[in-house]
Amino acid sequence: MNIKEEIKNLVYKVLENHVNKEDIVIEYPKDRKMGDYALPCFTYAKVLHKAPVAIANELKEALNSDLFEKVEVVNGYVNVFINKKNLTKNIINEIITNKENFGNSDIGEGKTIVIDYSSPNIAKPFGVGHLRSTVIGNALRNIAIKNGYKVISINYLGDWGTQFGKLVYAYKNWGNEEAVRKNPIDELKRLYVKFHEEAEKNPSLDDEGRRAFKLLEDKDPESLSIWKWFSDESIKEFNKTYELLGINNFDSWQGESFYNDKMDRVVDELIAKNLLEESEGAMIVNLEGDIAPALIKRSDGATLYITRDLAAAIYRKETYNFDEALYVVGNEQTLHFNQLKQVLGKLGYDWNKNVHHIPFGMILQNGKKMSTRQGKSVKLHDVLLEAIGLAKQYIDERNGDIEDKENISHKIGVGAVIFNDLKNYRTNDIEFNLEDILKFEGETGPYIQYTYARIMSLLNNRQDITINFDEIAINEYEWYLIFKLNQFKDTIISSKANYDPSLIAKYLIDISQDFNKWYANEKFIDENIVQTQSRLLIAYATSIVLKEGMRLLGIDALNKM
Ligand code: ARG
Repeated sequence: MNIKEEIKNLVYKVLENHVNKEDIVIEYPKDRKMGDYALPCFTYAKVLHKAPVAIANELKEALNSDLFEKVEVVNGYVNVFINKKNLTKNIINEIITNKENFGNSDIGEGKTIVIDYSSPNIAKPFGVGHLRSTVIGNALRNIAIKNGYKVISINYLGDWGTQFGKLVYAYKNWGNEEAVRKNPIDELKRLYVKFHEEAEKNPSLDDEGRRAFKLLEDKDPESLSIWKWFSDESIKEFNKTYELLGINNFDSWQGESFYNDKMDRVVDELIAKNLLEESEGAMIVNLEGDIAPALIKRSDGATLYITRDLAAAIYRKETYNFDEALYVVGNEQTLHFNQLKQVLGKLGYDWNKNVHHIPFGMILQNGKKMSTRQGKSVKLHDVLLEAIGLAKQYIDERNGDIEDKENISHKIGVGAVIFNDLKNYRTNDIEFNLEDILKFEGETGPYIQYTYARIMSLLNNRQDITINFDEIAINEYEWYLIFKLNQFKDTIISSKANYDPSLIAKYLIDISQDFNKWYANEKFIDENIVQTQSRLLIAYATSIVLKEGMRLLGIDALNKM
């Protein structure tokens, strides 16, 4: 139930001739004893030519409704106390009736969002660097769908560019089929490194590499088939990681190579619009402000990352007619996406204003970029297996003979990694410490999963509870929780508007803390049947919100742990 909106409507009746409805401010008082909502009246004083207290008194009159228990004027604020029984009855019924659909909104109805996320590079390990894009992108996808948007999720594989010419060359000269089959990513990486070592000694190899890429671009069958095989093997490996993460819902896997034959058109368009300039043999587009020029073609004629992204953006607009296009990519590519937007604008595509880079920070370990002991980049697959292993160890210590231990450790381990990623605002760097993120207490994934499992065991399959809320008393613990449950939909709407899954992560922590405080202070199941039933019902509603919130983030709820 949207109480805030109700309050706005009532207040607007008084302020209608002076203030826009959107500008009416409703706050949550820091001290809950001051009420559930507070309306500061100072800003209206000027336009209404009245003292804040006088305005507050008028608003108080307007808020005469059985939705509210009490409305007070204090120093230019109107403090509103909600009628607890009323809201409890409404909100609990709403949750229990709608179940996982509770919190759905239709603000995105008829609109399409294209989200480009994960997008690892073939022939390279799926590293922790791509974890963030995968996890944030997946959450944004779920959140957008919950808000009624149609979402197209795109895994834009990095599968094109001069490096693949080098790789094909290296394979033909120093590789063998058997080794690639056995251990594709490691072997391809070895070949790539070998190419660079040899090129140090013999610089003409770089020309060979470029020639080999030219062959690929010109669709030479042999080169293409080797490249395609590398790509297939890489995708097979990536899928193992996606499987572990439980994230594999891409609508499209059209990577950079898909745009090989779609770039000429962009280049032609740039020429026709007089935007392409020559600079030291290369073709560039000069940009406004202090943004570096966009390099469209190298002096040897090879296209670049941005050339493909231009073709991809135009293709996506023409194919999906998106209302928004999101690119979930690290902070370090901010310049690239600024250039992309600007070039699109110069081409006359005014929809470039709906193209958004969604940047994020790095994953650090002890304050430094995460790497193996040998200084290599860390494979996500290994990190996940380690998290699952540690989760299993914790389960053994707590609850050795639990059924389904493998599955439970898997979900706790992976959930912990995902939650740690999403609980901070995305542009911040995050610290990765396996032991901390797997703690069952504190702001962790396992803490939320544990709260959910606790409720499940309390309910013990009793889900068809019916009660009459008029007969019960609602204490402070219950009220804080219920009031927050009522904010689920608002939280989901804001997390879409700000492209910020951390709002939901923090919300789930709040709900879990409120529930656990209540649980610690109250005998849940006692002789008073009516009161017991009401507690169980509120707990059941809480579990629905927790589970759905976790689902949005990509985390599984567990009935036992
Ligand atoms: N493959 C790129 C990388 O690993 C990310 C691609 C992001 N998407 C895009 N349309 N540029 O850095």
